[in-house]
Amino acid sequence: MTRWCKPMAQEIPLEGFEPIDRPAAATARACSNVALVKYWGKVDEQRRVPATGSLSVTLGGLTTETTVAFSDREGPDLVVLDGRHIGGREGARVSIFLDMIRSVSLLHRLPIGAASVRSANYFPTAAGLASSASGFAALAGAAVRAAGMKASFDTLSNLARLGSASAARSVHGGFVELVPFKRENGSWDARTSPVASENHWDLRVLVSVVDAGYKPLGSTPAMARTAATSPYYDGWLGSWGKDLAEAHEAIAARDLERLASIVEHSALKLHALTMTSRPPVQFLRGPSIELMHTVWDLRSSGTLCAFTADAGPNIKVLCSPSDEERVRAALMSVNGVQSVQATAVGGPIDVVAHDVDPAGSWRTMSADNVEKDAEPSSSERD
Ligand code: ADP
Ligand code: DP6
Repeated sequence: MTRWCKPMAQEIPLEGFEPIDRPAAATARACSNVALVKYWGKVDEQRRVPATGSLSVTLGGLTTETTVAFSDREGPDLVVLDGRHIGGREGARVSIFLDMIRSVSLLHRLPIGAASVRSANYFPTAAGLASSASGFAALAGAAVRAAGMKASFDTLSNLARLGSASAARSVHGGFVELVPFKRENGSWDARTSPVASENHWDLRVLVSVVDAGYKPLGSTPAMARTAATSPYYDGWLGSWGKDLAEAHEAIAARDLERLASIVEHSALKLHALTMTSRPPVQFLRGPSIELMHTVWDLRSSGTLCAFTADAGPNIKVLCSPSDEERVRAALMSVNGVQSVQATAVGGPIDVVAHDVDPAGSWRTMSADNVEKDAEPSSSERD
């Protein structure tokens, strides 16, 4: 799986990386994010260019921490996620990502070999809480630094997008937009723009978990199915510009009532798309729908809040800090809700290089030393 210089299957971003020094290891911490206006579907699957624009808020309390060290020898990468060795498609997704960094590094005459990657998501993985976003943002930051290079947030964001599109937004903090555009040569690309910093608006996002398990179908295959089969997909492609403009205005004005309307509309449109795919993809469960009604009840009795849901059954609710406890109590009272975690708006990724590998033993650790039962249940996972 690991190569010194195998030609890359996809066009990789070669510019924007600057060699500095080669630490023993580097650790990055990144926050997850939730899209207020969502993307779903890709115009270029290989380069993970979203088919629609999106705008997210960074979730300060939902973090991933990833440590990477490269050896100078060829060999298989060792990838440990949440204490378990991951192989199969999940492991390959990480190794393919690291291959890009190996190629860039080679270009700068800094050849690197197999990697040890240790990552922890401090929230449920693959449950619709955007673990791929914080996961690939943290991996990009740690791996570039561990390879002996540095890069701007914009370069890291473009790189992270090649691991998972939503990861591009997790590199920046606060409110972040990700928009596709067409290059002069006709190919598609995307750019992220920070819209407002984490200090712009003191919002709370209450993450209500109804099922912390791996979803049966990953986001990547689910959106490909939607694009191919939902009769509503064209309408989706034609309406994101207006949604994005509305969200921009609501965020600039810190207008939660206005934001509530567009956030719920975007989330419900996305779930209408997945439900009308063939075969259908239904991410929501009974308690997810109950939570939506609870939010509407709260709003009609005067508490301003709004729900959103990504590709999973768990529901996130936006509210102001002064309403946090009231909203939390209402969400917790819904049957089937396991936990409600409140988080504030989070900041950008943070990367630290280590002179001494902080976990020297795991650099040489064999895959036999870690648990191996991490393969997700569905063969369709990406
Ligand atoms: P989610 O809603 O959690 O983002 P996805 O289906 O989009 O679900 O992505 C989940 C996948 O992302 C996992 O199956 C795994 O392949 C990858 N992933 C999640 N966390 C990490 C991490 N910390 N490091 C590397 N890959 C990760
Ligand atoms: C519903 O970015 O996780 O959260 O690029 O295939 O990894 P891949 O997909 P991913 O999809 C996120 C979809 C979403 C909406 C959004 O975050 O905009």
